[in-house]
Amino acid sequence: MKTIIILLLIATSAVIADDFSSSEYQAQQRNQKLNKLWQAITENKQSGTYPSPLEIASIFTESMSVTIDYKSDSLPEGRKKLIHSVGVVGQVKFVAEPDTPYTGLFKGADSALVRFSLAKPPNYSKPEAKYAFDNYTPGLGLKFLADGVPSANLVAMWGVNGVDSFNFFDKDMNTHIPNAEGLQLKLVAKKFSTATPIVQNVGLRSFADRNQDGSQVSEPKFPFKLTFRAPSDIKNRFTDNFTREYSQIFAEIQPGTTVLEVLAMDDPATGCLKKIGSLITTSEFTTSKFGDKNLFFQHQAYTNDIELHSQWSDYTPYFSFFGSNLPKKPEGKCPFASLLGL
Ligand SMILES: *[C@@H]1O[C@H](CO)[C@@H](O)[C@H](O)[C@H]1NC(C)=O
Ligand SMILES: *[C@@H]1O[C@H](CO)[C@@H](O)[C@H](O)[C@H]1NC(C)=O
Repeated sequence: MKTIIILLLIATSAVIADDFSSSEYQAQQRNQKLNKLWQAITENKQSGTYPSPLEIASIFTESMSVTIDYKSDSLPEGRKKLIHSVGVVGQVKFVAEPDTPYTGLFKGADSALVRFSLAKPPNYSKPEAKYAFDNYTPGLGLKFLADGVPSANLVAMWGVNGVDSFNFFDKDMNTHIPNAEGLQLKLVAKKFSTATPIVQNVGLRSFADRNQDGSQVSEPKFPFKLTFRAPSDIKNRFTDNFTREYSQIFAEIQPGTTVLEVLAMDDPATGCLKKIGSLITTSEFTTSKFGDKNLFFQHQAYTNDIELHSQWSDYTPYFSFFGSNLPKKPEGKCPFASLLGL
């Protein structure tokens, strides 16, 4: 009897873990998939835990190709989230500016998830803003669901070393990040480089090559990079000196709130940013065991983007342990409004 129960438990947990990668799951409509994910996310609102130093060290033995190539909304069974292990998740929709030049999900997405997290456990014992650097490292993961085909995903940060502020939105978050500082982070970057030669950028092509109804776009159009910026009424909810856990502040944001503006740099030769849309909440934010342990945000290889835009290669850092070479920097010759991201 006992054995049967144990076998049943194993079988059930296997079904749950596989649920978000199987072809049966992927074949569903986007709102069905979102509802299923949200059920798993809200089932247990207890946060996960940060990994131990020993567990973190296992990043050097696991395969990085999962992070880059695995098409699923949950991590493979047994795979741990070693960075960005604790966060909050909410449902959002992406509302595009009417004149957007980009295709596919860039035209709009009504079934999406955003997760905000810190890359590593913060130390709040000194609350002044200057102690946030190399300590408080905010980032986001974004997932747009589509009917019958896998979701499109990205991650964004200001930088892996963080900033001089405990305000979660003190700085923009970008799909391209600067070189990591410090030996430990360089070793992590080196590990990522076993799966892709470009470790500081994530790609956007899969946001452009499918519509949310699952139909394919024959000529995908997408920008060089994206920038996420919180509107001032969101940014001002947070303080530079540490006062409260960010999860408490997120929990107070109501559905129907613009939580981020999305800006795009179309062409690195000019380096201009232009607003292309907004992310508007369609639920409250919650801490979540599933969000921390299972929910997976694929890091798309930037090499896919360069395939269609070979000229971007000049503006792309290829991994080198001693700092990546950036052959060309964006010029920043923008009209004034564009500099402000308007
Ligand atoms: C947090 O920082 C304080 C002061 O800088 C330090 O004494 C303490 O050991 C740190 N705690 C952890 C868990 O690292
Ligand atoms: C942040 O903390 C420092 C040191 O305690 C203090 O001098 C400063 O006024 C604080 N800033 C704000 C905005 O409260």
